[in-house]
Amino acid sequence: MAQRTLARYLTEEQRDKGRIPADLKFLIEVVSRACQAISIAIGKGALGGEGGVLGEAGSDNVQGEAQKKLDVLSNEILLDANEWGGHLAAMASEEMDLPHLVPHRYPKGEYLLTFDPLDGSSNIDVNVSIGTIFSVLKCPEGADLSSEAAAEQAFLQAGTAQVAAGYAVYGPTTLLVLTVGDGVAVFTLDREQGQFILTQENVQIPAETREFAINMANQRFWEAPVQRYVDEMLAGKTGPLGKDYNMRWVASMVADVHRIMTRGGIFMYPMDEKIRHQGGKLRLMYEANPMALLIEQAGGVATTGRERILDIAPHKLHQRVPVILGSRTEVERVSGYHQA
Ligand code: AHG
Ligand code: MN
Ligand code: MN
Repeated sequence: MAQRTLARYLTEEQRDKGRIPADLKFLIEVVSRACQAISIAIGKGALGGEGGVLGEAGSDNVQGEAQKKLDVLSNEILLDANEWGGHLAAMASEEMDLPHLVPHRYPKGEYLLTFDPLDGSSNIDVNVSIGTIFSVLKCPEGADLSSEAAAEQAFLQAGTAQVAAGYAVYGPTTLLVLTVGDGVAVFTLDREQGQFILTQENVQIPAETREFAINMANQRFWEAPVQRYVDEMLAGKTGPLGKDYNMRWVASMVADVHRIMTRGGIFMYPMDEKIRHQGGKLRLMYEANPMALLIEQAGGVATTGRERILDIAPHKLHQRVPVILGSRTEVERVSGYHQA
C-alpha cells in the first residue's frame, strides 16, 4: 500500500470520515510544515546562521524565563507560517505576553492556535530531545479581537473545547503526534521527501506501568499524596504496590510524554510549595491541555490530582497547573490519594 502521508490522513479525516473541515486540515498541515522548519533549524545546531542556533537570546519571556535563541526562532517560524493562510483569528504562545492577531492585510479565519514553540529549553544546548506543543480551539462567535489584550478572553476555553492537539518531538527522529478527536496518530518525518508519513495509528497507553517520571529534586516540597505515592513506588516489590519501578526524567515534557505514549508510564509535575504561588509549573493552554487531550485519546488519564485537566475553566492565558498524566491505573491511584 502507498505511504499514508499526513496530507492523506487529514484528507481521509475530512472527506471520508467528515470529522474535520477543510480549513482545519489546512491549519494542521501549516503547523506541520512549521515543525519541519523548526526541525531543520535545530538540526543545524552550532552551524546555523550567524553564531549558530544554540545559546541564549538575551531576553526574557512574560514568565520571567530567559529565552534561548531557539525559543525565539521557533516562535517566529510558527507565527510566520500561520498568519497569512486565512485559517486563524489569533495565536498565543508561551513566548508572547499577549495574543498575536492576524494582521489586517490577511483574511481572518475561525480558529485559535496556541503553542509552546520549543518545549524543553534546558535541553537545547546539550543535544537532548526537545519539541513543539500545539492546541487548536474555535474562536467564539462575536469574540472581541479589537486589540491583543481584548483577544485573550477568546482563548479562555476549557481543554474539552480543543478541536485538535499535537506535538512534534525533535529526537533521533522527528515525529508528529496528532489528535483530531479520532484517536492518536504518529507521523515520522521523512527528511528526504520532506513529508510526515503515518507510522502508527490508534495509539493505546497500557493501563499498568512500572515506570514513573518526576523531578525528584523537588521531593521535599511536594504535597502529602504525591509523597505517599512516590514512597510506595520506591518501596518496590516488598512495598504496598508489590512491584519494582524504574524512573526516567528527560525534563522535556514532549519527550517524557512521548515515552508514555510509546510504552506507558506516569508523568508528574505536581503542585509543590516552591511553585504554589504561581499555581504549578506547566502551562495549561499550551502544555497541559494539548497533552491531556492526546493522553485521553490514547486511553490514559490526565489530572491535577484533584480535577480532570480538560475540565479546568481557564482564567488567564499563561495559567499554570499541576499535571499528573499517563497510564490509567497509576494516575487513578495517585488521584485517589488526593481525595483521601
Ligand atoms: P519549556 O522549556 O517550554 O519552558 O518547558 C519546560 C518544562 C517541561 O518541558 C519539563 O517537563 C519541565 O519544564 C522541566 O522542569 P524542571 O527543569 O523543573 O525539571
Ligand atoms: Mn514547555
Ligand atoms: Mn517552551
